[in-house]
Amino acid sequence: MALIADTGRQGGGRASAASDPEPLLALRHISKHFRTSRQDTLALDDVTLKVRPREFICIVGPSGCGKSTLLNIAAGIDTDYQGEAVFEGAPIRGMAQQRAVVFQEPALFPWLNVRDNVEFGLKLRGVPKEQRREIVDRQLALVNLSRFDRAYIHELSGGMKQRAQLARGLAVEPHVLLMDEPFAALDAQTRDDLQLELQSVWARIGTTVLFVTHNVREAVILGDRVVVMSPSPGRIKKIIDIPLERPRTPDDHAVADLAAAVRYELQNVGAEPEPRYAI
Ligand SMILES: Nc1ncnc2c1ncn2[C@@H]1O[C@H](COP(=O)(O)OP(=O)(O)OP(=O)(O)O)[C@@H](O)[C@H]1O
Ligand SMILES: [Mg+2]
Repeated sequence: MALIADTGRQGGGRASAASDPEPLLALRHISKHFRTSRQDTLALDDVTLKVRPREFICIVGPSGCGKSTLLNIAAGIDTDYQGEAVFEGAPIRGMAQQRAVVFQEPALFPWLNVRDNVEFGLKLRGVPKEQRREIVDRQLALVNLSRFDRAYIHELSGGMKQRAQLARGLAVEPHVLLMDEPFAALDAQTRDDLQLELQSVWARIGTTVLFVTHNVREAVILGDRVVVMSPSPGRIKKIIDIPLERPRTPDDHAVADLAAAVRYELQNVGAEPEPRYAI
């Protein structure tokens, strides 16, 4: 039976309510306007979301509800908003290596091979060569790409590009991974495979993840909590706990039940949001 919680404190994942740690990332009362000469769009309206250390949060919502806008604010790509975005106790003022971003379209350098792409951020950081090689080897093994380390980006499939992008993001040991529909452009089979791989990577390295997706089942497979947003203006309508054991697969009955609960919330996103969505 689906467990739906307004407070999100029942927590199904490792970041349980028992420890109730300080949030790693706190987005408090975030409102965002996009003003152009033609219109003023309220993209986010008083959004509050607290992400605990090691938590995997998935965000779902209709197109245009402000998911990417929220992720960009968390990343520090967008700093022009009302409210407060705090990461590890300090206001977010710009991009930082502790917050790695993975986009739908892999942002890899086509003139570098896979190894050099993954190594790129480490070089910028001044990590010594020998140490860089070890880290890159480890990350490529983690995402099953070791055999393709010398391949150029155009020689990779879509799934392999996303693996490479994930390895590059992980190489700099970010404290949070911000992922914006990273699997959206992949075929169903590759997507299933990468969902399993991401679960395994996450279980091993235990990083915190904020993951945007349109795919409800994917959100339930991956998340400790699923945040359902409503559009125009973007608000958090409901936060649903996913207290299921891992690894999870698309065929699990419990996954299907909880996906139905999330879908129910999404189908009613036109309704007034709940007055309370504190977490
Ligand atoms: N640079 C911009 N200038 C003007 N309006 C923008 C800009 N970026 C986003 N918006 C508007 O803000 C709202 C939220 O956009 P956002 O991209 O965050 O939605 P989303 O939930 O990520 O949608 P999708 O699921 O389609 O990716 C939309 O109404 C969009 O038109
Ligand atoms: Mg988007």
